[in-house]
Formats: sequence, structure tokens, C-alpha cells
Amino acid sequence: MDYKKILVGISGSIGAVEIHSYLTEIQNTFNCSINLIMTESAKKIVNPDSLKYFIDGHLFENMFDSNSDFKIPHVHLPNWADILIILPATANIIGKIANGIADDLLSTAAMAAACPVIIVPNTNGHMYNRRAVQRNIKALKEDGYIFIEPEGEGVQLSTKKKIKGAMPSPKELVTQLEGMILHA
Ligand SMILES: Cc1cc2nc3c(=O)[nH]c(=O)nc-3n(C[C@H](O)[C@H](O)[C@H](O)COP(=O)(O)O)c2cc1C
Repeated sequence: MDYKKILVGISGSIGAVEIHSYLTEIQNTFNCSINLIMTESAKKIVNPDSLKYFIDGHLFENMFDSNSDFKIPHVHLPNWADILIILPATANIIGKIANGIADDLLSTAAMAAACPVIIVPNTNGHMYNRRAVQRNIKALKEDGYIFIEPEGEGVQLSTKKKIKGAMPSPKELVTQLEGMILHA
């Protein structure tokens, strides 16, 4: 299979400030349509209006944000998508999905998704190593969620230090996505 319809869920991690480069890389590589979901926290970190210029689809900001194509967005968006990528994924959204909490559009869409859900964590090193976070990641992997993390340690945006919990670069992310298509 190919990825022609990609739903990207942006949560409130500092990595969201770089989301434009990731969207461009994904769109250029897969020549795909992209719809976006943003959490309330994500909207405080990156201006939602700026993202509309980087996608051909729509931006959904809350559970009741419906349009004629996606009347019930938490159901119809993942139904439309070949994959849902949560990029960047906070410790909070990871925890919510791992524990069956569906209290906003992104966590509910992830729960309702029949398509593969790919999670790209972005937390600081202490958060990432926290037992609760590691427990949640392990549980999600066992439940079939796919994690994309940098080979080795990634570079933390704020400090430029190498840590676990940083995101892969846009190029590394699409390379790993391409690898997943080959092995699907
Ligand atoms: C400037 C700023 C940067 C943040 N960066 C991160 C981060 O990189 N990773 C993370 O897990 N949480 C981060 N947080 C905390 C989350 O925004 C917070 O846990 C929030 O509840 C996440 O909500 P969401 O998962 O619905 O987006 C940050 C908060 C602020 C104010």
C-alpha cells in the first residue's frame, strides 16, 4: 500500500514549532493529501492559521468541528486516512491513548481509528524516561501502535543536546515511513 491520505495529529509539544518542515517533507515524498487535527495545547505553540498554507486538506480544532466531508470528525477522519500520524506526540496524548481516554478530538480519533496509528514522541529526556511514560509506550506497542523515534538519540530542540524523546528529523521520519510501506 501507499500513503495517499494522511491524517496528522499535532499535540502540544515544543516540536510542533517545526511541524511545517515535517508537513512539507511528507507531502513532497508521498504526494499525498493531508488533513490535520490540533490539540488545544498545540494551538498555543504553533499558529493554526499558518498551517493551512501547508496542506491541501482541512484543519480540525475540536470534536464538533465538522464539515460536509467529515460530519463526525473523530470517525470520518480516521476512516478517510491511510494512516494517522501523531506528530509530535506529548507524554499526555501517549498516556491518554494508552489508557483509553478519549476527551478531545485527537485522542478520540486515535481510539476510533481502524487505520495504522503512528506515534512520534517528543518530550524532554526526564519525561521520556519516566516510568509512567515508558509503561504507556510499552502498552501501546503491545496494542499495535507504531512508534517512530530517531535511530539512537535525537537532538532536543531547546537545548540542542542529544536525548531520548526527541523527534527524528523530517528526512529520517519519511525514510522510516517509506520503510514501513515496503514492509507492509
Ligand atoms: C512551551 C511548552 C512546551 C511543551 N513541550 C512539551 C513537550 O515537548 N513534550 C511534552 O510531552 N509536553 C510538552 N509540554 C506540555 C504539554 O503541552 C502539556 O502536557 C499539555 O497538557 C499537552 O496537551 P496535549 O497532549 O493535549 O497536546 C509543553 C508545554 C509548553 C507550555
